[in-house]
Amino acid sequence: MIYHGLKGITCIETAISHIDGQNGKLIYRGYDVKELVQKQTFEETAYLLWYGSLPNSQQLHQLSEQFKSNRKLPTYVKKMIHSLPVNMDMMSVIRTTISSMGNNNMTWKPTIDQAITLTALMPSIIGYRKSVLENKSFDENAAKELNHVEYYLFMLTGAVPPKVHVEALETYMLLTLEHGLNASTFSARVTASTESDMVSSLTSAIGTMKGPLHGGAPMGVISLLDEIAASQSAIKVISEKVMNGERLMGFGHRVYKTKDPRAISLKKVLLQMLGEDQWLDLAIDIEETAISVLNKLKPGRSLYTNVEFYAAAIMKAIDMPPALFTPTFTASRVVGWTAHILEQSENNVLFRPQSRYTGETIKQ
Ligand code: ACO
Repeated sequence: MIYHGLKGITCIETAISHIDGQNGKLIYRGYDVKELVQKQTFEETAYLLWYGSLPNSQQLHQLSEQFKSNRKLPTYVKKMIHSLPVNMDMMSVIRTTISSMGNNNMTWKPTIDQAITLTALMPSIIGYRKSVLENKSFDENAAKELNHVEYYLFMLTGAVPPKVHVEALETYMLLTLEHGLNASTFSARVTASTESDMVSSLTSAIGTMKGPLHGGAPMGVISLLDEIAASQSAIKVISEKVMNGERLMGFGHRVYKTKDPRAISLKKVLLQMLGEDQWLDLAIDIEETAISVLNKLKPGRSLYTNVEFYAAAIMKAIDMPPALFTPTFTASRVVGWTAHILEQSENNVLFRPQSRYTGETIKQ
C-alpha cells in the first residue's frame, strides 16, 4: 500500500497542538485557540507553545525582555541582506538569512533560547530587507519598548501602528502560530530528526512554507478576489475555474473537513474591524458562492474556506503589501516550528520512510 503525500498516516506523537478536523477545533496545549485569541498576547501564547504552560507575570516579563534584547541583526547579516539581488522574493531572503545564522551557538541540541532569538529576529529581517529595497533608514533600537507584534508593524512602516492594526495582526498571528504536522512543520522535524541544528531545521521549514499549496496561498486569494471583482460574476469565474480543474486558493484542507476555525475567527475580527466594507462583502459573497459551487462540482470532498482566505482579507485591511503575506505567516509560524524541533529533539527517531521502485528492472 502506498500512502501518497502520507495522507492519513500518523507518524509522531505531539503535546503541542491538536486539530479536530471534523468539528473544526484547534487546541494549543490544552487551550482552545478561539479562547486564547480573546485573552492572550503573542508573547503569552508563544510561551505556552514552547514551555507547555501559560506564563506568570515574572516569566512573561522575562520572555518579553528576551524578545526585545534579541532584535538586533549582526552586521554581517545586514551586509548580506544588502547584497542579495533586488528581485529576490522575501521568502527567499528570510530563508537565506535564517540559514546564515547557523553558528557555534546554534548547534545540536536545540534550546528554547535559540527559538526565542530566531523568533525575535524575524521582524528585523523582514523590516530591514524592506528598508533596503525602499532606500530608507533602519534602526532596530528605535522601537525598543514595543511588544513583538507592534515592533513588527513598526519595522514595516516606520511609525507606531494604530491599535486596531495591532489587534488584527495579533489575532492572525495567534491563530497561525502552530498547526500540527503540516508540510513545513514536517520538514522541520525531518531535518531535526537527523540531529542537525535548529537553524537548518528552520531553513527547511521556510523553503516548504513558500509553496502556493501551503503558505503561498493568500497571494492566490487576492488574485481570485481581484479577478472576480473585475468580472463582476463570482459564480461564472468560480465555476469555470473548478470545471477547468483549477484549485481555488483559500479553499480545502487536508485535515479540516468543515470550515477552518481560524477562518471563522478571522472573519469575526474583520466584521468587528471593518463593519460595512465593500471588499469584505465581496469576500463573504465569494466564500458562499465557492462553497456551493465546490459542493455541486466536487461532491463529497468537503471543501470549505481555510485560514488563508480570510488571512488575505486581514492583510489587506491592515495595509500589508501582498509580497509580505507569506513572510508574515512565517514570522508567526516560526514559534510552532521551533516548538516542534524542540519536541523532536527530546524523543528523537530518524524519519526514513520507504519508497516503491517503479523504474526499469536491471538491464542485461
Ligand atoms: N479548489 C478546487 N478543488 C479542490 C480544492 C480547491 N481549493 N482543494 C481540493 N480540491 C479537490 C481536488 O481537485 C480533488 O478533486 P478530485 O477528487 O476530483 O481529484 C479533491 O478536492 C481532493 O483534493 P486533494 O488534493 O486530494 O486534497 P488535499 O487534502 O491533498 O488538499 C490542499 C489540501 C492542498 C490544501 C488543497 O485543498 C488545495 O490545493 N487548496 C488550495 C490551496 C490553499 O488554499 N492552500 C492553503 C492551505 S492552508 C495552509 O497551508 C496554511
